[in-house]
Amino acid sequence: MRQIMTTIIESPTAASLLSWYDRHHRDLPWRVSPPMAARGVRADPYHVWLSEVMLQQTTVPAVKAYFAKFLGRWPTVRDLAAAPTDDVMAAWAGLGYYARARNLKKCAEAVAAEHGGQFPDTENGLQALPGIGDYTAAAVAAIAFNRQAAVMDGNVERVISRLYAIATPLPAAKPLMKQKVALLTPADRPGDFAQAMMDLGATICTPKRPACALCPFNNACEALRLHDPEQFPVKAAKKEKPVRQGAAFVAVNGDGEIYLRRRIASGLLGGMTEVPTTGWTARIDGETSATAAPFPADWQAAGTVTHIFTHFELRLLIYRAQVASNMIRNDGWWEPVTNLEAQALPTVMKKAIAQAIPRAFSKARAYTSGHNS
Ligand code: ADE
Repeated sequence: MRQIMTTIIESPTAASLLSWYDRHHRDLPWRVSPPMAARGVRADPYHVWLSEVMLQQTTVPAVKAYFAKFLGRWPTVRDLAAAPTDDVMAAWAGLGYYARARNLKKCAEAVAAEHGGQFPDTENGLQALPGIGDYTAAAVAAIAFNRQAAVMDGNVERVISRLYAIATPLPAAKPLMKQKVALLTPADRPGDFAQAMMDLGATICTPKRPACALCPFNNACEALRLHDPEQFPVKAAKKEKPVRQGAAFVAVNGDGEIYLRRRIASGLLGGMTEVPTTGWTARIDGETSATAAPFPADWQAAGTVTHIFTHFELRLLIYRAQVASNMIRNDGWWEPVTNLEAQALPTVMKKAIAQAIPRAFSKARAYTSGHNS
């Protein structure tokens, strides 16, 4: 008799993921470990919210340092609400996408003023706060308040798309993915489940070479059964980013001070600190020569800096000039080069300054690799 070979594929269960999480969860400063959570200890909503907003910008290792800095300066949401916006923006500098920092402050103010310093404990209540979207509301509701909310970020999308071999490309597949996550999310331990999905995506179900042999879902994963987990999630072809250009002018005076200005409050990098720049236009023949400088000086070309924003790539020609100590300007201020770390300078500006003054920032990290800001 002919034997029919079949692969038995089981339904994925929250229980298998949770028991993996009990053994392999990451210890993170904003997280309550599973044994503590089992005793009813909940993570501080302020910590969860702050870390989740930061984690939308960058990686877990990078967030740890920012999280510690913010909690050191503003231990409670009321402290953050009372902080000067400029201080919050300066502390956020380097994380990028400064609208998030402005919204962070507004959200803290709303929690302090309208909710007595306590975060609302439902997804809907959280969504009503400034800057809190679907993801953050679900994450805080699940992790801090143990609500059965379906939490979906990039890691979870990857896990779920592989588990069900979802062939629809992103972003069109998101509603289906969310439905699948909602069906899998348990009533018991939804917060641990959400964090377990994220940890699984970050450590096992990685974009390249996932460690399927170690995965708690390996007997339930459709993509593994197809022998090609890496093809999921399917992504729609990316459009090329348009290129814009401009020039930035780094002036240093005889007292070792650099000329800085504040950007207008609205728009890209609104309210942040900058060195004078031209407008950033899409035109190749846009004005990027030394004649566009904010004041006459011996401007010397100092190279080019490229920075990738969400919607365009910026190429900035950098000019540097040494000027007299007594040079007065009234649309900005002179700041000691030794005090640049304390300024609310977005990454693109740090790159521009570092290009003209290589030792401007003490950090060994050169401002060469662009992330969004
Ligand atoms: N990435 C974003 N939020 C996270 C969380 N709560 N745990 C682990 N990774 C995350």
